[in-house]
Amino acid sequence: MKTIKVFSPATIGNFIVGFDVLGACLATLDRTLGDELVISDEQPSGYSAEGEFAYKLPDNEHNLVITTAEFFNRKLVDIKKQQPIKLNFTLFKNLPIGSGLGSSSSSIVATLYGLNQWYESPFTQQQLLLWSAQIEGSNSGSIHYDNVAPCLLGGLQLINSELEDPCQPIPFFNDLYFAICFPDIEITTKSARAILPDTINLIDTITMQGRLAGFIASCFQKNKSRALDLLKDDTITPKRKQLIPDYDKAEVLARENGALTFCLSGSGPTCFAICRDEQTARDVSEKILNVLSRGEHAFHCVATLDVQGARLL
Ligand code: HSE
Repeated sequence: MKTIKVFSPATIGNFIVGFDVLGACLATLDRTLGDELVISDEQPSGYSAEGEFAYKLPDNEHNLVITTAEFFNRKLVDIKKQQPIKLNFTLFKNLPIGSGLGSSSSSIVATLYGLNQWYESPFTQQQLLLWSAQIEGSNSGSIHYDNVAPCLLGGLQLINSELEDPCQPIPFFNDLYFAICFPDIEITTKSARAILPDTINLIDTITMQGRLAGFIASCFQKNKSRALDLLKDDTITPKRKQLIPDYDKAEVLARENGALTFCLSGSGPTCFAICRDEQTARDVSEKILNVLSRGEHAFHCVATLDVQGARLL
């Protein structure tokens, strides 16, 4: 019997200044934050889910692992003229659904990356990336790469989807830590996008593009304080934070305790703060959990940037 196991990490979409175009891959220090998928040829073939957040997964017909595997199999037949074999999937669902931690991207990437490994890499990273974004788009209502790209490739990724090779890794500061807090409320990306306006005015656009460009330039120039000063968002976050009870209170507390930034991860409800050292990140994440927690599955953790992305375990 052949068995492989893959891991696809959690991600932070938008990364404060890059709505839909900048995403970070997370390496957590104190819990498994990413989906794991075991693929085997044990018969009978099938699908099952385990792990803390498996209870929230939709039935098989709408399950992302199954629909993504079907997508991959169609590509295998259409492009490679190869017949897929019947496989067995066990998903360890370690990421909460509708959390802003790239949960759906994690399941999609685990399945595409895992199957590509299983069949000994018939497809390129670029094909996997494009297909991940397409599947994520049909799931969330719009194509955005800022979760699938860092999940597959690792690091902090800037995405220009109009280019054939859309991703550029951005050098971040590896002595910074992320304090992460999941409040245990569910916000679908679709609903968090629905509350955004269709257009943004010129002044806001100028501010947003200036911050994103300045942040990227500062990362390349290794100018940490300038990069951190620019990590602000007055356009998307103010509209979305109303979906998270006590967001403002948590931000005040985080900053009082040493957080250098505070923002939503992706479309929320997970919040994250960038901190100067691990102990500060631990204190901040613990304190904001007390304010934000709304359910028994709420958690806090500390992370750094994961540079590897999806991988075989
Ligand atoms: N860029 C997406 C959004 C990320 O903010 O809608 C979703 O996690």
